[in-house]
Amino acid sequence: MSTLPRQSPQAYPIERIRADFPALRQQIRGKPLVYLDNAASAQKPKQVIDTLAEFYRHDFSNIHRSVHTLGERATARYEASRDTVRRFLNAAAVEEIVFVRGTTEAINLVAQSFGRSRFREGDEIVISAMEHHSNIVPWQMVCRQTGARLKVAPIDEDGALIVEEYQRLLGPRTKLVAIAHMSNALGTLNPAGELIDMAHARGIPVLLDGAQAAPHVKVDVQALDCDFYAFSGHKLYGPTGIGVLYGKRKLLEAMPPWQGGGEMIRTVTFERTEYNDLPYKFEAGTPAIAEAVGLGAAIEYIEGIGWETIAAHEHALIEYATARALEIPGLRIIGTAGEKGAILSFTLERIHPHDIGTFLDHYGIAVRAGHHCAMPVMDFFQVPATARASFGIYNTHEEVDQLMDAIREIIKVFG
Ligand code: ALA
Repeated sequence: MSTLPRQSPQAYPIERIRADFPALRQQIRGKPLVYLDNAASAQKPKQVIDTLAEFYRHDFSNIHRSVHTLGERATARYEASRDTVRRFLNAAAVEEIVFVRGTTEAINLVAQSFGRSRFREGDEIVISAMEHHSNIVPWQMVCRQTGARLKVAPIDEDGALIVEEYQRLLGPRTKLVAIAHMSNALGTLNPAGELIDMAHARGIPVLLDGAQAAPHVKVDVQALDCDFYAFSGHKLYGPTGIGVLYGKRKLLEAMPPWQGGGEMIRTVTFERTEYNDLPYKFEAGTPAIAEAVGLGAAIEYIEGIGWETIAAHEHALIEYATARALEIPGLRIIGTAGEKGAILSFTLERIHPHDIGTFLDHYGIAVRAGHHCAMPVMDFFQVPATARASFGIYNTHEEVDQLMDAIREIIKVFG
């Protein structure tokens, strides 16, 4: 048995946090739910659920359109949430915060607006070999549209980026770097600041895909000096259908809109349209109003716990889970980089990951099994899929023990 402590290193308010998440108080197949699929989507605290319900009960209306009281209230709450996001990312101005549906839409926005208007035949976009499909496919699409080419920085056997190879790929034709802040399939945390400095030394802007990192590490876009940062609300204990694209004002101002419609205009005639100011230029149509308000509540909730507290808790969990997993014969951890978030991807000899996922569900344990929308990562490690336990603020060391006991059972039954 692992000698690592079975508790977080400080007085972590785990009972209070767990009590805030109604979904955790249920049995699955007669067992208490152990929710370890947070990298796919996190559960919601009652503070977020109540905010959504209360907003719909009292303040809901369309925004930026109506002078009536509800229109003003809803607009004020939506914009207050934008300022919460600005503070959360430490962005310089609210004009740099664009509400979108999620990380995927944010990256597509940059590809179709920034990329499509700037990339030319032979230009290059540098990504990495650990990217999620949503940070691969939008670039392939814009490559087909513009004649630009995708360059892929390799990873090593631990699933860490080979930084020297990344640096070697940065050249005079590189027009953008788009890279995961943290890998969803491996847990690898990339040295974002260093990668950005290297790109900036050559005048290349950098987009960070923060879908996985934003719920786990303190993001400071000014300290990172990143040009674009994308994240989703639903992995951050907030609602689905809402996410954020942060962009430096100078870049966003120079970019054309990518969707046309209501709200993104100042004036329209049949001859020509004058576009609205930032950030509305990129928010065509009625946005996800309540979801944006709910995202603000989610951010306030996690800020109330504190980043250092969360980081210490999750670090203790992944260290403990890793040590316990290594004790299991036939278990292979996929993703063993030195800098890792709270993700444990693994395979078992002779047992397909989908069977692991199904079997664990019989124990009330929710993990994701599959390629995690990162098929090139699976190809690199020569596995069809992995089982992935991903941890969040409400997970416990006891749950890690339950996972490991269940894995030992699976091996006994199928191995
Ligand atoms: N990108 C999400 C995941 O890693 C859905 O599961």
